[in-house]
Amino acid sequence: MTPDLMEAGAKRLAEHQTKTGSVIAGEEAYFGQGVALYVEDITVSFDGFKALNKLSLTINVGELRCIIGPNGAGKTTMMDCITGKTRPDAGKVFFGSNINLLRLTEPEIAQAGVGRKFQKPTVYEQLSVFENLELALKADRGVRAALFHRLSGAQLSRIEEVLLLIHLKDEAQRTAGLLSHGQKQWLEIGMLLMQDPKLLLLDEPVAGMTDEETERTAELFLTLEGKHSLVVVEHDMKFVDQLTEGRKTVTVLHEGSVLAEGLLSEVQANEKVVEVYLGR
Ligand SMILES: Nc1ncnc2c1ncn2[C@@H]1O[C@H](COP(=O)(O)OP(=O)(O)O)[C@@H](O)[C@H]1O
Ligand SMILES: [Mg+2]
Repeated sequence: MTPDLMEAGAKRLAEHQTKTGSVIAGEEAYFGQGVALYVEDITVSFDGFKALNKLSLTINVGELRCIIGPNGAGKTTMMDCITGKTRPDAGKVFFGSNINLLRLTEPEIAQAGVGRKFQKPTVYEQLSVFENLELALKADRGVRAALFHRLSGAQLSRIEEVLLLIHLKDEAQRTAGLLSHGQKQWLEIGMLLMQDPKLLLLDEPVAGMTDEETERTAELFLTLEGKHSLVVVEHDMKFVDQLTEGRKTVTVLHEGSVLAEGLLSEVQANEKVVEVYLGR
């Protein structure tokens, strides 16, 4: 995003505030410029060690972007900066053209429309698949209150829709603890989808999945592309190949910055990338 785009976003925000009298908190992200996420020169130091070193990245609205790179490259730290878990020492992180994520707390960032999937699935094991989705839909209520609160027709159809998407329609009444590892991962993605995030961050989503589960996960992400922007960190090259369909950009991180960006075939042929990552 160029400075004039950010200026346009700021101008729009000011106009909106004059019109509605509302302030920044609760402001809707503006995606009219086609940018979902804009990261500029973020640096994160841990005791003098730079986990991120002037990292810059732009994700377009509806884009599915795969991020690869060796262990310790800074992939998870990057997600921590976007979701507010870690504050960079310097740099910018914007959601849409108007929301400065560095000024929001973790819950505010989630509320604004950024969903994050951690490596380990965290579902309510003792509840059914359906109840897990129901809870995610009413995350602002306590567990008991949420389960006693009646679902509206629209909420019910949204749950049905997500059950289909995550291939768990036939398991809706099953206790989540009894699902396979892959199914739990899908359920957690489904729980994220209940909040309808604009941007989804997925950190090694197919780690520990069977080949068949991995393939189905790729299909799921391809279905979500367009409606959501997705940032997928993954080591599984077959999975990345399936996601990028030979035409999408892949970003390679190394030592906290972008080492290369291009088609998977291009970065795989890049000598620097082979040396630090693929060749090992
Ligand atoms: N909280 C922390 N304190 C100190 N060092 C950290 C912390 N988090 C990450 N690091 C270091 O930052 C670097 C990047 O880590 P990480 O973002 O987890 O890499 P990746 O996800 O690409 O494997 C690593 O060298 C890691 O040891
Ligand atoms: Mg990581």
